[in-house]
Amino acid sequence: MQSLTLLSAGAAIHPSKVSAQSKKAGLVNKPLVISTWDAGLLANKKAWTILQKGGRALDAVEEGVKETESSLNCCVGLGANPDRDGHVTLDACIMDEYHNCGAVAFLERIKHPISVARRVMEKTPHVFLVGEGAQQFAVSEGFSLESPELSPAAEAAYKNWLQKSNYKSPSINVENKKDHGPFAPYRLENGEWNHDTIGMLALDKSGNLSGSCTTSGAGFKMRGRVGDSPIIGAGLFVDNEVGACVATGQGEDVIRVAGASSVVGLMRGGLTPEEACKKMIERIVSIKKDKVKDIQVAFLAISHRGEVGAFSIHPGFTFAFRSEDAEELKKANSWFK
Ligand code: GLY
Repeated sequence: MQSLTLLSAGAAIHPSKVSAQSKKAGLVNKPLVISTWDAGLLANKKAWTILQKGGRALDAVEEGVKETESSLNCCVGLGANPDRDGHVTLDACIMDEYHNCGAVAFLERIKHPISVARRVMEKTPHVFLVGEGAQQFAVSEGFSLESPELSPAAEAAYKNWLQKSNYKSPSINVENKKDHGPFAPYRLENGEWNHDTIGMLALDKSGNLSGSCTTSGAGFKMRGRVGDSPIIGAGLFVDNEVGACVATGQGEDVIRVAGASSVVGLMRGGLTPEEACKKMIERIVSIKKDKVKDIQVAFLAISHRGEVGAFSIHPGFTFAFRSEDAEELKKANSWFK
């Protein structure tokens, strides 16, 4: 009866209200944090300030990725590339050790979507808010509405893309085209993959896991397109008994295999984090066949004991690692050599 009351309260289950069910009583772990791509180094630095003091993994993964949301880059935060109609739309999700989770998608003009996702988790009975409703909720929670202007870098990239793609607003001509007009390219002009999600996983001193994931999605995407990053089970999944996983890359192909939860499921079955990530990459390769040459997907995972592993389709996927003993950028193994 007591747990029913707790659940019906709606908002997130708070650690102080739950007995040691998830918390690994008495266990003092070596904390660590991992996150996707090179930008993870800076994000980890911030997360580490929390973990080393014995702070909660959930706080670490929120504060860590906020660093990336605040920085100027192609694919995370308000400075990132816009959709094909010129608007930056952001997706994010967060999950803790109690299966509490929150997500936002298609969110505009809010600097820290990851913090809005956390508020969804903690202040509402829901898991996922999108678009105007997510923005309305954010504003009601005190987040400021930022300018809709693009960053100078994004403005330049967008103008260049418009010119080359010859794209006009959908209301003008897109429905007349057989393929509905240009879609997000797989790669940016500089040859890099057109997505650079930051996903972060942390293990704290209490032995608890949390994860976060935030992105602007693919640059020049169709308006309204949402990838894997805000979808619990696709872009992120945490199971405190087993481990956690984040995905990065072509979101559509992560969603179709329920990527992150599938990796954690394989770990529950006994695979190491790297073996589980590799298995799911192989699954995508077998589904996509020849098309994998144009697609990058990577999974990054951690076990509840702190073992870490990753695997990607193409070489070049890096992840940042931070513990008491090490601060480094690691290269993942990949299906293509
Ligand atoms: N993985 C990011 C996206 O596809 O939106």
